Amino acid sequence: MDFKQIVSHCKEYGFIFQSSEIYDGLAAVYDYGPYGIELKNNIKTYWWKAMTQLNDNIVGIDSAIFMHPKTWKASGHVDAFNDPMIDNKDSNKRYRADVLVEDYMDKLDGKVDKEIKKAAKRFGESFDAEMYKETNPRVKGYLDKKASAGQRLAQAMTDGDMTALKGLIEELEIVCPVSGSRNWTEVRQFNLMFSTQLGNIAGEEGKLYLRPETAQGIFVNFLNVQKSTRQKVPFGIAQIGKAFRNEIVARQFIFRMREFEQMEMQFFVAPGTEMEWYNKWKENRIKWHKAVGTSDEKLRFHDHENLAHYANAAVDIQFEFPFGFKELEGIHSRTDFDLTQHQELSGKKLQYFDPERNENYVPYVVETSIGCDRMFLAMMSTYLMNETVPDAEGKDSTRMVFKIHPALAPVKVAVLPLLKNKEELTSKAAEVYKKLNLHFQTQYDEKDAIGRRYRRQDAIGTPFCVTIDFDTLEDGTVTLRDRDTLQQERISIDELVAKISPRVSMAGLLAKLED
Ligand code: GAP
Repeated sequence: MDFKQIVSHCKEYGFIFQSSEIYDGLAAVYDYGPYGIELKNNIKTYWWKAMTQLNDNIVGIDSAIFMHPKTWKASGHVDAFNDPMIDNKDSNKRYRADVLVEDYMDKLDGKVDKEIKKAAKRFGESFDAEMYKETNPRVKGYLDKKASAGQRLAQAMTDGDMTALKGLIEELEIVCPVSGSRNWTEVRQFNLMFSTQLGNIAGEEGKLYLRPETAQGIFVNFLNVQKSTRQKVPFGIAQIGKAFRNEIVARQFIFRMREFEQMEMQFFVAPGTEMEWYNKWKENRIKWHKAVGTSDEKLRFHDHENLAHYANAAVDIQFEFPFGFKELEGIHSRTDFDLTQHQELSGKKLQYFDPERNENYVPYVVETSIGCDRMFLAMMSTYLMNETVPDAEGKDSTRMVFKIHPALAPVKVAVLPLLKNKEELTSKAAEVYKKLNLHFQTQYDEKDAIGRRYRRQDAIGTPFCVTIDFDTLEDGTVTLRDRDTLQQERISIDELVAKISPRVSMAGLLAKLED
């Protein structure tokens, strides 16, 4: 589905609104509406239970957004949490210099795809795309250009060499998308942390940051959690919470926000075992993504070319969003960097006595970190679709349907009296609604023709609709309609809970992770 359609669907059906919309909005800040918050909460529950319920050695915390300012000095964020920015002097627009180069590389990818599609048409079934990429001079030229730009970008970023980055933008003749000119400023580093001021302390001393990642709340609580829960290494701490980044480029809807939510887990391991755990967590996380129905083709690993200051290995799980493959989740081997730094700046020991090794050490950390909002967008962009289905007369009609995994669906079941003006139908429907509502997120809807009501439920992803008609009054049966197959079956009201429960339960989804 087209990206614009997804964005307008999210607004029209109460999933996501622009923040402070009546004041023309605030860039890259969004509010979740009634269906949005249900879906988001279900995503969070799925993640939380997969981490803390299915793993005896992972426990959760909820740390504060504000932390002692030294936290961010220790973590390296004050000195190194920067993005390179560049302004175009003609349009006065600001860009992330690395993103300009990445966009240039994406354009080359687009050209390659176009050439391949054309050739596939020309050569028919015998066409071998991989061989074509290696042998066709034009395609090879695009790919070589892309590889060289990628290598030089990675080098400049690793070295923090802003002059080299500016040189690359000039050499690639990258123009401002707005003015079309190449009249660029120098590239400068821009720190992404938002700051604020404590009320009772003036000046630098009272400067606080809004956390740019939830992870540091876990690191500083490492010993508190380990001691109070008597966990033994290896063990993990999970947290879901808001993070804030003053992103230079705010675009692509909820993909890159200034206020967003992270689901992070730090897994503390013995030094020397981190790569084994890093590989295990890569496998584990991919399984989590696939369990909701996401296909292999939509997911891929992408090793980091330039490692963050704290990592000795890092990989992104990239997802195919409507604007291409982009990072959905990061898995990082963060070494003992954070704990060691906090130990130094706080003067407090953050060590673990390992009874098996009979030694004290600062544990190494493997982290998994996923943006809740990006997971939301991944679900929206994969499972919201236009479909041709037969209407009541058997003719083709289109419907917009959100085929989200039932366990994540905002509403599980809708109860619909066939007619609005028949009191005996509406009161029976209200009775059924009351019964189901104890078990599932249930909606009662009596407005409009039944077909339109089905479409409304399809559009918000409700897996089941229960219709109350005149036969219901006679024999206590209802029609149960399945969102995906459109099949309708007649079942007794007493059987509804047992029939719907296994299909929409979180336990059923979690069980897939245990296979
Ligand atoms: N603790 C490690 C860390 O924060 P990251 O790769 O910077 O690593 C982790 O962020 C995840 O947070 C990303 O994979 C992404 O899903 C999400 N994320 C990061 N910046 C974001 C933003 N501006 N808007 C929405 N999600 C974001």
